[in-house]
Formats: sequence, C-alpha cells, structure tokens
Amino acid sequence: MTVSRPELEEIVDGLSADQKQISPKYFYDERGSKLFDDITRLPEYYLTNTELGIMRDNIDEIVELVGKQASLIEFGSGSSLKTRVLLEHLSELAAYVPVDISEEHLYASAERIRARFPHIEVIPVVADFTKEFELPEPMVLPIRNVIYFPGSTIGNFEHDMAMELLRVMHHEAGKNGALLIGVDLQKDPEIIESAYNDAAGVTAEFNLNVLEHLNRDYGTNFDVDEFSHSANYDVEKGRVVIELVSHADQKVELGDTQFDIADGEAILTEYSHKYTLEGFREMASAAGFNVEKVWTDANRLFSVQFLMRD
Ligand code: AVJ
Repeated sequence: MTVSRPELEEIVDGLSADQKQISPKYFYDERGSKLFDDITRLPEYYLTNTELGIMRDNIDEIVELVGKQASLIEFGSGSSLKTRVLLEHLSELAAYVPVDISEEHLYASAERIRARFPHIEVIPVVADFTKEFELPEPMVLPIRNVIYFPGSTIGNFEHDMAMELLRVMHHEAGKNGALLIGVDLQKDPEIIESAYNDAAGVTAEFNLNVLEHLNRDYGTNFDVDEFSHSANYDVEKGRVVIELVSHADQKVELGDTQFDIADGEAILTEYSHKYTLEGFREMASAAGFNVEKVWTDANRLFSVQFLMRD
C-alpha cells in the first residue's frame, strides 16, 4: 500500500491538534469494512435495517419520484443492499454512476452490479465527492440526475462540511436534479447510545481497528491495548461523539514527529450527527434544495428524504 503525502499530513495534523483526532475515513481498511458490515447486522444498530425497511415500504413512490430515464449517481461505492433494492425497481434508468475515492472497492462493486443488472449502464467514477467532479455522459441521454446518498453518511460531517457537501450535490444534480438521502433522526438518547455501544463489542473493535490500520499502513506505533472505545450522545449538539481513550501516558511516533498522549486523554475518531426533520430541512434549503417528500418508519427512528433543486 502506498501512503500519500496529504494523508500523512492530515494524520500528523490531527494528532497534533489540542483535541487529537483521526478522520473516520481511516476506519475502512479491509478489516474495518468487514467490521462495519457486522455493525449493520447488530440488533442495536437500528440505522441500516430501518432505512432498508423504509425503502422497501415506499419503493413505488420512490420510483415514481425518481422518474423515467434518470441518471442515478450514488455518493459512495454502492455495495449496499439498499442500492440493489433501488436498482431492482428502477427499470428505466439512463445510467447508474457510483462515485468513490477508493478505486479498488469501486470497480469491484461496479462489476457485481453490472453482473446483476446487465440492462443498466454502470459508469463508476473515481473521485473525492466532497469536492466538485466531472460527471460522465451515459449512452442514453438522462432526463435528470438523481443523487443517492444513503446510510446517514451525511452525519459524519460537521455543519459547515455537511453544507459544503449538500452544495456539491446540488451542483452535480444540475437543472431539475434531485437528491435521495438517508438521514438519521434525533431520538431517545438510550437508543442512540446503545447503537454505538453494542453488547457484542463490535463497534469497539471497529473503533480500535483504526489504530491497527494506522500502525500497519502509516507507520505509527500506538499501543492498541492501552486504548478503549467510548461513544456518548451529546443531546445539545445532536451528535454521537466517538473516541478512543488512552489508559496510559504514551509516546507515539510517526516519521520524525512524536506525540504525547496522556493517561485519560481521548482521540476523537468520529461524529455521527442526528437531525430533526426541521433542522435538516433548514440545511437543505440553505443549500438550494426543497424537501419534496420525507418517509420515516413507524417509530420515527430514521428518515429517507427526496429533495429537489429549487
Ligand atoms: C457510516 C457514518 C453512517 O455514523 O452510524 C457506525 C458509522 N460508526 N458505528 C454511523 C458508524 C460506528 C456510521 N456511518
């Protein structure tokens, strides 16, 4: 594996900050992706199953809103079951365009989707979707672009970055474009906290694995056994704060930089923001989107929303 300069700098900067942090994108090495997959099947992790249920229950209406001959542009590699459900019902798509920064992951999942849906033109695009990128031209001229962003991945981003991302989606959607997005909702803190502190300890393993990943691929020397997983829901801010807490004074090296980590100090690894329908509508509207339709489950745990450019 080759290590890129900007990545190294990002890791060094994160570990040099007053509040030490590691970007959640480093969770997803091979083992991390596998562990995340396991998380989605945990009884406490309501997000994935609830979103899938909402998609299944409302698929006819979703298909109707997407319309005929749309180009479906997924932000992320599109390996999920939710994508399959959608593609199974969108029989008249102009194209399916998964966008991901990880080439390997993207091409492998595009290949699987092609095999399963031979009638759909699948055009994978390697890009960092937090910045504007060029869309490919499908063989069939699309009537409109519909961006698909499932999983409440938007929750990983703090307000300004989430706004920036919505603006990029607004731009990529183009004229008449739309956005189909999964957004996790604010609710009883106990439900949220147990989703990130599962009894089987899979989320803890997932969180700790980020250190194994940095040790192996970026040359740090974290003593992984001296850290433990922590996840707390900040009700005020409407977000889960996921951290790794050190149980000892440690010196960690990366190249010629040394970092002191104190006993009890926490490294922030992820935020998972939860929204109110009203709060999300305000953000969407500030980015130029109108919320056309919101679907939720009976317990109002999660929402799938259809936004149109206004
Ligand atoms: C993939 C960002 C939606 O925030 O719930 C799951 C990641 N982290 N358990 C989330 C995650 C710990 C997940 N997202």
